[in-house]
Amino acid sequence: MARTYQQLRLALASTLAVFLEPEEAQAESVRWFEEGLALSRAWLLANAAESAPEALQPTLDAWVQRRRTGEPWAYILGWSLFRDRRFEVTRDTLIPRPETELLVEAALDVGRRLQVDRCVDVGTGSGIIAISLALETEWQVTATELSASALQVARRNAVALGAEVGFLHGDLLEPLPGPTGLVVANLPYVDPADAPLLQRELAFEPAAALFAHDAGLALSEALLIQARARQAPACLLEIGAGQGGELCRRTLRTGWKKAMIHQDFAGHDRILVALA
Ligand SMILES: C[S@@+](CC[C@H](N)C(=O)[O-])C[C@H]1O[C@@H](n2cnc3c(N)ncnc32)[C@H](O)[C@@H]1O
Repeated sequence: MARTYQQLRLALASTLAVFLEPEEAQAESVRWFEEGLALSRAWLLANAAESAPEALQPTLDAWVQRRRTGEPWAYILGWSLFRDRRFEVTRDTLIPRPETELLVEAALDVGRRLQVDRCVDVGTGSGIIAISLALETEWQVTATELSASALQVARRNAVALGAEVGFLHGDLLEPLPGPTGLVVANLPYVDPADAPLLQRELAFEPAAALFAHDAGLALSEALLIQARARQAPACLLEIGAGQGGELCRRTLRTGWKKAMIHQDFAGHDRILVALA
């Protein structure tokens, strides 16, 4: 006999609970129905006792098989939300993190106070920062990225969301011909020495999007030096918890006049603001 939607969802939650924490399994089972099958929470409640089509089971089984290996749900789904917009993500791009919204908020605030008319997002990945800034300001937005395959995803996201962004392939600010305006970046900042301690889901994300030499600081420092040399009015970076003190010292040593740290929801160092 066919299962009801409620039975199917509960069975999914208990299958997921074999390899996820129970609350995570419950939450993911609802997300899979909402995001993967486009059946909202409200619809599920209203139709809990209806028979679900049998064809749903093989789809759920295939997703479970991938999720069991540790593959993040966003890769299985193929997209992720950032600032309420849907961004395509692939194994070539980092999955957007909620902390990065703080970076966008800080960039909007600093950019408006300094009355900039342009900005560059360095290491754009799926394009979330550049595209959000292009859609939420009048600024001329450019984005650079070392990975050609990530850049293709960013370009598709910009087209899908109707954002005007100039995408450039290359290292940090090198591909940018003219003035930078505000420099914003969520570059790799994880210390390679921490790799064995990381959640297994992170193994699915590109290593080049996560790790940086010099205890995770190398790319942040290199960008601060380049941005200062290009006379950027400000440089905003997402940084790792506990990197604030050392990065502030390096920022001032690089010739920036001011360095400030914003903390995230958990009270960790998360955003560095360098002002010229
Ligand atoms: C932490 S991910 C962030 C991606 C995206 N900005 C986000 O917030 O989701 C860092 C990105 O920087 C790119 N990257 C790494 N080194 C780079 C470099 N030297 N120049 C430009 N991009 C770089 C990686 O390929 C990756 O896409």
